[in-house]
Amino acid sequence: MRKKIVAGNWKMHKNATQTAELLNELKAQVSTKNNAQVIVAPTFVNLALATSLLEGTSIQVSAQNMHQAASGAYTGEITADMLKSVGVNTVILGHSERRAIFHETDALIASKVDAALQNDMTVIFCFGEELKDRQSKNHFNIVENQLKDGLFHLQAKDWEKIVLAYEPVWAIGTGETASPEQAQEMHEFIRETVRKAYGSDIAEDVSILYGGSVKPDNAKEIFSKPDVDGGLIGGAALNSKDFLAIVNAI
Ligand code: 13P
Repeated sequence: MRKKIVAGNWKMHKNATQTAELLNELKAQVSTKNNAQVIVAPTFVNLALATSLLEGTSIQVSAQNMHQAASGAYTGEITADMLKSVGVNTVILGHSERRAIFHETDALIASKVDAALQNDMTVIFCFGEELKDRQSKNHFNIVENQLKDGLFHLQAKDWEKIVLAYEPVWAIGTGETASPEQAQEMHEFIRETVRKAYGSDIAEDVSILYGGSVKPDNAKEIFSKPDVDGGLIGGAALNSKDFLAIVNAI
């Protein structure tokens, strides 16, 4: 059965003190009684702090990125094994900011997915169209190609470790969210695309999160859609009150 998930992508926010503060607030209020698996993704330097602070809780820690190689002369980069060595078993890959600002291609992201799976990590795979794609009615094509190029080389068994996060670029950090109907329409298309490639069991089991300006006042309606299994939250994950309200909206 597919899982409900609410994940907070903290992006390049919060130093060590602020990370500890926010995690302690979340720790006090997130319980195993929550309907959703809660995941937080602080910056690289605060991951070890996060896993140690959250030990024994139900909150999981994710990285925001990683390198595809096992080791080497790649100044500034981090391997899957390094993440695992500090207790991090999940990684966000393919975020639109990595694609747009750091020029990550579908092929590069696919190789990162492979490296993560080889290390038995869970991947939160992000994808989504830009505004120009939607305006030219090309959004379904773009999304289908991102899925195919990033993930459809995988074997069926690999899908146990994949979480999909549809994040339309035009809705990220803009305050403009996809309507619940737009989100449902695309999530249904995504599930159908997975079904065609891998069959119904995998399509029904994969969690598809929505990301892009999810806030406490719109979360409930978006999460009520049948193919929306939770959210990947940016700005509203940076304070405990808003993030917990979104967690509780599931
Ligand atoms: P916002 O919630 O700030 O729009 O960010 C979404 C996002 O990019 C999560 O990965």
